[in-house]
Amino acid sequence: MAALRNAAASNAQILAALTPPPNVVVVGGTAGIGRAIALSIGKYSPSANITIIGRNQSAADSVLATLGSRSKFLAADASLMSEIRNVTKKIDAVDILVLTQGILTMNGRTPTKEDIDTKLALHFYGRMLFVQELLPLLRQSPSGGKVLFVLDSVNGNPSKVNWDDMALEKTYSLMGAAMHATTFTDVMIQYFASKRENENITFTHAYPGAVRTTIADSLPFYLRIPAKAVMALGVGTAPEDCAEYMVHGLFETKKGFRYVDNKGEPVTKAKQIDSDMINKVSEHTSQIISC
Ligand SMILES: NC(=O)c1ccc[n+]([C@@H]2O[C@H](COP(=O)([O-])OP(=O)(O)OC[C@H]3O[C@@H](n4cnc5c(N)ncnc54)[C@H](OP(=O)(O)O)[C@@H]3O)[C@@H](O)[C@H]2O)c1
Repeated sequence: MAALRNAAASNAQILAALTPPPNVVVVGGTAGIGRAIALSIGKYSPSANITIIGRNQSAADSVLATLGSRSKFLAADASLMSEIRNVTKKIDAVDILVLTQGILTMNGRTPTKEDIDTKLALHFYGRMLFVQELLPLLRQSPSGGKVLFVLDSVNGNPSKVNWDDMALEKTYSLMGAAMHATTFTDVMIQYFASKRENENITFTHAYPGAVRTTIADSLPFYLRIPAKAVMALGVGTAPEDCAEYMVHGLFETKKGFRYVDNKGEPVTKAKQIDSDMINKVSEHTSQIISC
């Protein structure tokens, strides 16, 4: 609990001292970890301008009721690149970008109308498009732009990537989709941070660990019921506590990129990422998100 207290105290101090108050965008801010991050930032920085993005208007309304009149909701299906392009045009300032949109599903490849697998679109491609579209605003941030990806900074492994089918159009599996999204995020934060024009921005990839959110609600009943029972027993971290660790991890990234664990502390396992991988993943990503 000392780690949680320290993270919360540090977040409170940093956010209260930020002048001007930050412009924050939380994609996936209507529920779970994103919602808790938006509320945590709003608690410590009541003058922050917080925009949450998702699809669920009533869930958004309950978050906005707590955040107050400086916050707003932008509705968008973040699995569609066209909607991401539209919604990012409605944003005129961003200092902190948090990406938590995601789903838990046992379905195989489920193409969107843009022919990208829905899970990969939410967990990886769409997140990269949000960053690409908002980079010009992040570069202008007086306090330095900050980007936080909440996914899995621990288990990515380039040796388990299918480099011949990067979008998994022919060889889709759930394990493969998870591996590609996490590994490619590991790679892309290095790519973004390597650009001279982004030297004012930090990129953090975080692993939240098991968190008691509603993410299991869409599973078939035979998986949902045991998952809910385990959460009811208190297994996993409360979203509010996870949010403190995630925000702590975000603020402790002082330069470039960083991988942090479920306590917001550096991931110690070395990442075997080389310049060929960075080129390959960045080119592939650019091609898919330009659809
Ligand atoms: N919870 C865990 O134990 C855990 C563990 C490891 C990793 N993660 C990762 O952490 C991230 C957040 O998980 P969570 O537990 O907070 O999930 P959650 O409680 O289910 O929240 C998911 C968020 O994503 C948004 N979202 C889903 N589909 C969307 C779409 N098509 N368009 C726009 N927004 C969409 C939802 O908003 P709307 O419903 O409003 O669209 C919601 O705000 C996910 O990427 C997940 O894979 C979670």
